[in-house]
Amino acid sequence: MRAHWRTRTGFIIAAAGSAVGLGNIWRFPYMAGENGGAAFILIYLALIFTLGFSVLMAEQAMGRASQHSPVRAFRSLKGGFWPVFGMIGVLTAFVILPFYSVVGGWTLGYIWKSIEGVAREKGAFGAFISDGGLTILFHAIFMAMTIWIVHSGVRNGIEKWTRVLLTLLLVLLILLAIRVLLLPGAEKGIEFFFSPDFSKVTEDTIHAALSQAFFSLSLGMGVMITYGSYMSREKPLAGDAASVVGLDSMVAILAGLVILPAVFAFGLDPKAGPSLTFITLPEVFAQMPGGKIFGVLFFLMLTVAALTSSISLLEVVTAHLEDEYQLSRVPTSIGAGLLMFLLGIPCALSFGAMSDVTLFGMTFFDLMDYLSGKILLPLGAMGITFFVGWVAWSRVVQELNGEQGGIPGWASLWRLMCAVIAPLLILWIMFEGIAG
Ligand code: PHE
Repeated sequence: MRAHWRTRTGFIIAAAGSAVGLGNIWRFPYMAGENGGAAFILIYLALIFTLGFSVLMAEQAMGRASQHSPVRAFRSLKGGFWPVFGMIGVLTAFVILPFYSVVGGWTLGYIWKSIEGVAREKGAFGAFISDGGLTILFHAIFMAMTIWIVHSGVRNGIEKWTRVLLTLLLVLLILLAIRVLLLPGAEKGIEFFFSPDFSKVTEDTIHAALSQAFFSLSLGMGVMITYGSYMSREKPLAGDAASVVGLDSMVAILAGLVILPAVFAFGLDPKAGPSLTFITLPEVFAQMPGGKIFGVLFFLMLTVAALTSSISLLEVVTAHLEDEYQLSRVPTSIGAGLLMFLLGIPCALSFGAMSDVTLFGMTFFDLMDYLSGKILLPLGAMGITFFVGWVAWSRVVQELNGEQGGIPGWASLWRLMCAVIAPLLILWIMFEGIAG
C-alpha cells in the first residue's frame, strides 16, 4: 500500500517546505537587489501566481492521479517514451542535492562561525569555503540529517519534521523582520523594496524572474509529482497549490524585508550578489545591538530552510528506486544519500583544493549547477507541462475537483498554460540560459 500524508495539510506543509529554501532566503533578496527591487518583485509575483501555480498543479495532479513517483507516473498515464521525462526529473534531483547539501553545510558552518563571532572578519567566507576538511564535515552533517528524516518515512519523517521545521522557520523569520524593521535607517530598504523602478527591467530581468520562479517552487524535477502521489483524492487541487505558492512568496518577501533594510540601514551595498548573505549580513549583524544572537538565529533559519528542501530532493530519488525496484526505504535512502554525499565532495572542494580542476571551463560545483539548472530542469519541466497539456489531459483534468467530480470553468485556462505558454517560456529560459 502506498504511503499517504497523515493529515489534510500534509501536502501543503511538505511541498511548502520543499519550495521554501535557499532560493527564497539567499537568492531572492540579492536578485531583487540586483534587478531594480520592487519591479523585479512584481514581475516575479505575477509569474509565480500564474505560470508557477499552473505548473505546480500539473505536477501535483500527475502524482495524485497516478499514485506513483515520476517515472511510473508517466508510464501509467501514457507510457511510450514519456517516462524519459520522469527519469530526467530523478536525475536532476540527483545532481542538485550534492551541491545543495554543500551550501546547506555552509549555512550550518555559519551558525558556528556566528557563535564564535568570526563570521564578519574580512575574508572569513572565502577562507571558510576553501577549507576542504571543514566544508566536507558540515556537508556530511547536513546530509546525515537529510537522510535521517527521509529514512523515517513519509509520515514520521517528512511530514512530521517539515511541520516542526517550517513553523520554526516562520517564527525565526518574523522575529528577525521585527528586529530589522526597528533599526534606524531601515526605511530606505523598505522604500527600495516597495517602489518599482521599471526602467531597470530588461529581458534579463524577466528571464531571471522566470528561472527563479521555477527553482523556488521546486518545479521540473518531480518533487511535486512525488509529493502529490502521497495525496488521497478527496479535495480539489487548486487550494493546496495556491497555499504553497502563497507561503513560498511570503517567505521570499519576508526574507527580502529582513535582508535589504538591514543592508541599507548600515549603508552597505544591496547589489553584492551571492555574497550578500554570507559576507554583507555578518557585517550588518556585527554592527547591530544584539547582533550576535540574531546572526546565529539567521543562519539557523537558513539551515532549516535548506533542510526541508534537501529532504524533498532525496525523497524523489528514494521514492523512484523504491517504486521501480521494489526496494525498501531504509537501505535505499541511506544508499542514495551516501552516493550523493560522495558526489558532493568534489563540489565542496571546488572552492579550494579542486578550484583548478575544470571541465568545459567550470569547476565541479558550477558544472553540477549548470547541468541541473540550465539543462535538466528546463527539459524536465517542458516534458511535464507538454505532457499534461497535450497527452494526459483528459485523465489529469479529472483531478482538479477530486472526488467531488466535474471540471471547473477555469480548467481551459490552465490547459492553455500547460500546453502552450509554459513550454514556450521554458524553451526561452533554456536557450537564453545556454546562450548567456
Ligand atoms: N525550492 C528550493 C529553494 O528555493 C530549491 C529546490 C529546488 C528544492 C528543487 C527542491 C527541488 O531553495
